[in-house]
Amino acid sequence: MQKCKIGIIGFGTVGKGIYRILNSQSSIHPILKEIEIVGIAVKNINKKRDIELENNLLTNNPFKLIDDPNIDVIVEVMGGIDIAKDIILKSLKAGKSVVTANKAVIARFGTEIYTTATKYGVYVLTEAAVCGGIPIIEPLKRSLRSNQINKMVGIINGTTNFILTKMTKEKADYKETLKLAQKLGFAEFDPTADVEGHDAADKISILTELAFGGKINRDSISTEGINQINIKDIEYANKLGFEIKLLAFSERSDINSNDSLSLNIWVGPSLIPKSHPLAAVEGVNNAILIEANPLGEIMLYGPGAGSGPTASSVVSDILNLHASLLKNSSSIDPLLSFNFWKDCHVIDFNQISKKNYLRIICLDTPGVIGKIGDLFGNNDVSIESIVQLDASENKAEIVVITHEVTNGKFEKSKKEISVLSEVELIASQLSCI
Ligand code: NDP
Ligand code: HSE
Repeated sequence: MQKCKIGIIGFGTVGKGIYRILNSQSSIHPILKEIEIVGIAVKNINKKRDIELENNLLTNNPFKLIDDPNIDVIVEVMGGIDIAKDIILKSLKAGKSVVTANKAVIARFGTEIYTTATKYGVYVLTEAAVCGGIPIIEPLKRSLRSNQINKMVGIINGTTNFILTKMTKEKADYKETLKLAQKLGFAEFDPTADVEGHDAADKISILTELAFGGKINRDSISTEGINQINIKDIEYANKLGFEIKLLAFSERSDINSNDSLSLNIWVGPSLIPKSHPLAAVEGVNNAILIEANPLGEIMLYGPGAGSGPTASSVVSDILNLHASLLKNSSSIDPLLSFNFWKDCHVIDFNQISKKNYLRIICLDTPGVIGKIGDLFGNNDVSIESIVQLDASENKAEIVVITHEVTNGKFEKSKKEISVLSEVELIASQLSCI
């Protein structure tokens, strides 16, 4: 049988996971034995590694692998943006298909990359870029293609879910838990992308383009992370019957805009009722709920980061490529490749509609809850619940949960509440589903 010869660029958490699967002795499908690693590029060739490699396998020049005529497929698992983008594009132009786990590059340069792949008659496969080990890209491209996707909501960053779970269950310290997530190989090289929500925004951008078929502007996604989350909010949310999770949300919006499909997309820390299936997703696990027609609702769940799970997705892409190369067909498989077919746009921040949680620190004086309620009412914001949760000395903490409302109306109310003489501070604001 013909071999599939690959060059791997990056030999860190994910690269080593790929090597382990390809060299495993377990009873995986025999096609796995047809994958041959021809070269591995790293940054520092002299670094001490816990896997011993034959000397001639390693290089510190990724472009040597791209230029090697023996290599069919380039596997980009080095991370970063500019060099990685260059590597992906050069590989495609050299007629090599690419497998990448790099959501930052795909979310920003997907159009150029998908178009180049099609032009050169090759593929770029990205299963590992979203939700680590969960098959989500392949289902969106194939198994769900007979559906109209209406909504996706999920926990799609493992590091932040790991941190929030430990803060909730063990009252763990935020900074210490982030360090642990880095040590376990879950976090990005610069974990700011994880904790500020940008990694989740990259991923929901990729999923949205695949699900709805249109190019969207990655930078227009309203994004908040978990770096401002206070342990008090976690405690209050729990008292009120909610968990706090970093959610990514993408839905068709009914706001009309000529022929372009309007999409309501955001990423932010959110209250989820404890009875909701996403509330039970703990630790490094991810889950994504997809609402589709005529299918209905499904949830995909599993490990969202880490060496083995992410490598599982990369290797499944390599196997898919090998299977398609074996067919020896000159035409591109339209479901394995991806091209846009629709015009989509992200609605403005002020038009986004959702439920909100607000924690207000104010003077414990008669009538303050009434005043806050009136201001919301005057701005057409309907309140689901308003409670005074903690009072100490002459101060009170008031927690408000609204019904679904546009950000425009909510932000206006918040501004007016913040200048009430009784209000000391708007301590926090979260989304709710
Ligand atoms: P690591 O930091 O663990 O590994 C990066 C690897 O790339 C290292 O081997 C490094 O070399 C090599 N590298 C860096 N720069 C260069 C360069 N210029 N030329 C050649 N090699 C280079 O990263 P991860 O394995 O964690 O992540 C890799 C990618 O996978 C990222 O895009 C990440 O977002 C994505 N990903 C990661 C997941 C995870 O759980 N970790 C999950 C899903 C996606 P050296 O060893 O010499 O330093
Ligand atoms: N840093 C990412 C996460 C890796 O924690 O989810 C998986 O994409």
